[in-house]
Amino acid sequence: MTGAAGIDLTDVDLFVRGAHLDAFATLRADDPVYWNEGADGSRFWALTKYDDVQWAYREHEVFSSSRGAIVGGSFQSSDDTAAGRMLVVADLPRHRLLKQVIQPALSSAVVGAVSAQVHKLVDQAVDRMLAAGGGDFAVDVATELPAGALMTIMDISWAHAHELIQLTRRMIGYRDEVFVDTGTDDRLRLAWLQAEIFDFFEDLLAHRRRQPGDDFVSRLAQARINDRPLATDEILYNCMNVAVGGNETSSYTACTGLLALMEHPDQYERLLADHSLLGTAVDEILRWSSTNAYVQRVAKRDVERRGRQIRAGDSVTLWNVSANRDTGQYPDGDVFDVGRTPNRHLGYGSGIHRCIGAPVAQAELSLLFQRLLTAGVRCEPVGEPRRLRSNFMLGITSLPVRVV
Ligand code: HEM
Repeated sequence: MTGAAGIDLTDVDLFVRGAHLDAFATLRADDPVYWNEGADGSRFWALTKYDDVQWAYREHEVFSSSRGAIVGGSFQSSDDTAAGRMLVVADLPRHRLLKQVIQPALSSAVVGAVSAQVHKLVDQAVDRMLAAGGGDFAVDVATELPAGALMTIMDISWAHAHELIQLTRRMIGYRDEVFVDTGTDDRLRLAWLQAEIFDFFEDLLAHRRRQPGDDFVSRLAQARINDRPLATDEILYNCMNVAVGGNETSSYTACTGLLALMEHPDQYERLLADHSLLGTAVDEILRWSSTNAYVQRVAKRDVERRGRQIRAGDSVTLWNVSANRDTGQYPDGDVFDVGRTPNRHLGYGSGIHRCIGAPVAQAELSLLFQRLLTAGVRCEPVGEPRRLRSNFMLGITSLPVRVV
């Protein structure tokens, strides 16, 4: 059963076909606070207008993060199993305390070190692509962004970083047959994939406890909140949060960005002619891709919006991908404009949970596109890009390109 507009936002095919943008335009116009009854049994409100999404992000006293990110995921019980223990699913006051511990591990000095590492890896990957006359940008180039970030933040080797990227890719792609056997139960599979990431970090944590360094895991292992160390599962959950938060998002955004530039050659030529547009171009890529399509909240009390009654306990989804195309905020939202300003996109969310890794992601994306621009690289797609089967993470898993 679906709601009045006949749209079901749990239908992954809608997103894979790219038909979701029309669906969101319909919802924003006809039913902006939409009660979605999913074919998978999930029930939730969908906020699709910029103002409403922004409002819900800011009303963190009304909308709790404790139910987890994914509607219908294994996180979905009455509360996320990580509730209160992992930054992204913690409410105040615990959220503030965890953030005080985690934020210094992503300081501007760390971002500087990440940039140096990503610079090196991106240079090598782009050189290889140029020498070969092309390749699969999603596999050969884009994954070097999170690899460089993980190597620096976690102080692990390139091989280990790629091992971790494969694990988080499988978790985020838990409904995609390219990454997993989709014949098993979705929720059990997702729980299993999370356990694999936990195992990875358990080994790393044991190592860091023996030989502490200045990396993320060592910092969490030594951190104290109210004079008490973090529990082991808190450390592991927050390692997972940073890995999952940073791996797929930045590399998938890079792919959507390159695809957008190839599909809008006039905009790419504009950038090539004026590299000072790189900053606005990266923001436009973040708006355009809206890689993290939605976040989930749960209403803590009854609240009304646009005449609709949201009840305490209801799931509420905040659709960044729709807000970022809302004509109320962006009159020409369907135009890809590398010089767009102002551009207050919600690609990183907003409010207290706004992406803590945003400076890392900005650095990664800027370095990548700067490298393509300085080398004067022009690419064109070879065949169709392959999209991730997900309505949560809007990713491109294969983007074969030819250098022209
Ligand atoms: C283009 C890249 C990225 C996008 C689109 C993105 C998107 C987001 C969004 C929408 C949120 C808000 C979640 C919510 O409100 O429930 C978020 C939070 C978060 N992100 Fe990112 N992210 C990106 C890169 C990164 C990177 C590189 C890291 C780590 C190095 C990271 C780590 C996190 C963490 C830890 C949170 C939780 C923050 C909190 O709850 O206070 N993200 N991200």
